[in-house]
This record gives sequence, structure tokens and C-alpha cells, in this order.
Amino acid sequence: MHLAQIGVGRIGQLHARVLVTHPLVDRLTLADADRGRASEVAASIGAETADVDEAIAAADAVVIAAATDAHSDLIRRALPRGVPIFCEKPLALDLGQTERLVEEIDTSGVRFQLGFHRRFDPAYREAQRRVTSGELGRLYQVRMIASDHEPPPQAYVPTSGGFFRDAAIHDFDAVRFVAGDEVDTIHVQGAALGFEMFARHDDVDTVVAIMRLRGGAFAVLAGGRHNPRGYDIRMELVGSRDAVAIGLGPHTPILPLDADGIAMEPGWESFLDRFAPAYRAELLAFVELASGRGKSRCTARDGLEAMRIAEAAARSLREGRTVRIAEINTSGEKEVSSEVISR
Ligand SMILES: NC(=O)c1ccc[n+]([C@@H]2O[C@H](COP(=O)([O-])OP(=O)(O)OC[C@H]3O[C@@H](n4cnc5c(N)ncnc54)[C@H](O)[C@@H]3O)[C@@H](O)[C@H]2O)c1
Repeated sequence: MHLAQIGVGRIGQLHARVLVTHPLVDRLTLADADRGRASEVAASIGAETADVDEAIAAADAVVIAAATDAHSDLIRRALPRGVPIFCEKPLALDLGQTERLVEEIDTSGVRFQLGFHRRFDPAYREAQRRVTSGELGRLYQVRMIASDHEPPPQAYVPTSGGFFRDAAIHDFDAVRFVAGDEVDTIHVQGAALGFEMFARHDDVDTVVAIMRLRGGAFAVLAGGRHNPRGYDIRMELVGSRDAVAIGLGPHTPILPLDADGIAMEPGWESFLDRFAPAYRAELLAFVELASGRGKSRCTARDGLEAMRIAEAAARSLREGRTVRIAEINTSGEKEVSSEVISR
């Protein structure tokens, strides 16, 4: 299979290293708006380079790992070829664009996978199995922690879509995936407490969110762009029969203060080391999908549902109230109800 990958920044370099060694991939062509970067990465792993249109035109499948503000254009350039597409999250920068893209992807019939890698992480999959099999009993609570180690580079911030669409969207997808349920309401508070660059781009670096799922369970998220001890992504689930944790171990970047606390090792540096096996697994799944086997395990519609929650979160922060996900129809233009639920 001849794969084209567009975008070779932080995550793109990781993806390219996995793809170039895949037995079903006999050619990998890299393209990036920064041609020098594409050539450097290609030379370091033994791939080829081309410009974006040439790469797409010659490929049997396309992997998009460029900056978020380029996703919709790149997907639209690849769709007419009818070849399978993998795209990093989020699909687009806002809900209106995401809805239009999802329609176009669905209508095209193209095999499509979105980059919510936690769906491919063994612990998240096991948690999902325990919830759906009933082993956890009635789900009471989902408690999530999501902190970057260091914030992304300043240039990333204005093209990211903001904390909810860029970072917390993973947690919104994870709660849907693991709980097998939809978020009904969300209430968010957040601020830029550590880094002025977020405030300058009307963004936040520290967030708390309370969600209610349709099935009744509560979910909470404490998230942010900085944890001095490392990259911290966790989920705890408490049900009537069991309580389980994801991301709790020697590399969890927190210092236990109890006399009998766990002896900790250095914390995870970033998403690149914490989730390397999950990124690998999602790309293996995509190559399978691109080979015509199986169904997408992370669809464009999953991206749309997570984006709807991210939009609701942004609105909750802006308006200081609980927002129903059902209010969020299309980029805030059309609302089912703007009723204030509570403060
Ligand atoms: N799944 C995850 O955990 C995860 C982690 C990090 C980033 N991401 C996503 O991956 C994407 C890239 O993030 P990153 O951290 O690697 O960013 P980055 O800024 O390091 O790299 C982005 C690359 O895209 C290139 N680019 C921008 N516009 C382009 C265009 N129109 N055509 C071709 N190349 C273009 C840039 O030159 C750059 O090399 C973002 O959408 C981000 O949300 C996902």
C-alpha cells in the first residue's frame, strides 16, 4: 500500500515512524507546508516527499496530521479520490464546519478514521468492556484528570481551537466511549492561571467540568495545560459493583504524601510516551481499515459528538451556566433551547 501523510510536526513524526515500518505499507510519502521539515523527517526514516496535492493524488490512503486549521481543506482535497482517510482530531475548528464535513464524509462512503487514540489504549478498552458487560454494576461516577506536562508551543495556541476543542475533546470522547452513554449537560469553570498566552488568545489553561450522562451517572474533569511533574491523564470509574482506575501507576506525575504512599518514578513526559502504544494501535487499525478489513473504530460522527460537547463546554464557560448538549446544534447559530438550567 502507498500511504501519503500530510503534516509531520510533533504527532506526525510519531505516526510516520510507525507507518514506515508497517509490513502492508510499501511506500510512505510525506508532505508538509514546511517542505524542509518534510524532507528532514523523510530522510531520517527512509520515506519519500512530495507536495501535498501530488502526495494525495498518488496514494492508496491518506493520513492527515497537519495543524487543526488545515484538516477540513485537506480532507476535502482527499475525498474526491475515494481512498481511505485517517485524520487527527479534531475534525475542524468549530461545530458548523465539523457538521458539514461529517455529511460530506458520510455521503462519500470513504473509509474514515478519526484520531481519538484512547479508544485503542488497552486500559480504556478494558474499562469499556467492564462497563458494557455489567461487571462494574450501575455506573455512579467517572472522574477524569487531564493535564499536559508543559503547554504547547505559543504558535500552536491560535490554530488549536482552544482548550475544549483541542485537549478536553479527548476526555469528552473517552467518557462517551467508556460509559457507552451520551453527555446530557455540562457546567464548566476555567481560567488562564499559569500562562498569559492563553488569555491573549481568549483561551484557558485550567478547567473543571461537571457532566451528567443521560443514564444518570456524573462525570467530572479536572484539566489543564501544565503539571510540573509530568503529563497526567487518568480516569476512575465507580459503579455499584466495582471501582477501577486508568493511568494510576509509578509514572503518574503526582507526589503521594502519605507515609505508606506508592513509590513513584519519573512522571510521563508527554502524550508521546504515555500513549505511544495507543497511537501505534490506532494506526495499525487504520491500515487494516484501509486494506478493506473491518469497520472504523472511531468515526467522523464520533468526532462530531465530541465536538458538540466541546462547544457546550465553551458556551458554559462563556455564559457561566449549565448547558444542555441538545442546545448545541450548529456553531451556536440555532438553539433548541437557551434555558438557563442552573448557575
Ligand atoms: N491525538 C493526539 O493525542 C494528538 C496529539 C497532538 C496533536 N494532535 C493533533 O495533530 C495535529 C497536529 O498537531 P501537532 O502537535 O503535531 O502540531 P505541530 O504544530 O507540531 O505540527 C503541525 C504540522 O502541520 C503542518 N501544516 C500546517 N498546515 C498545513 C497544510 N495546510 N498542509 C500541510 N502541512 C501543514 C505544519 O507545517 C507542521 O509541520 C493537530 O490537529 C492536533 O490536534 C493530536
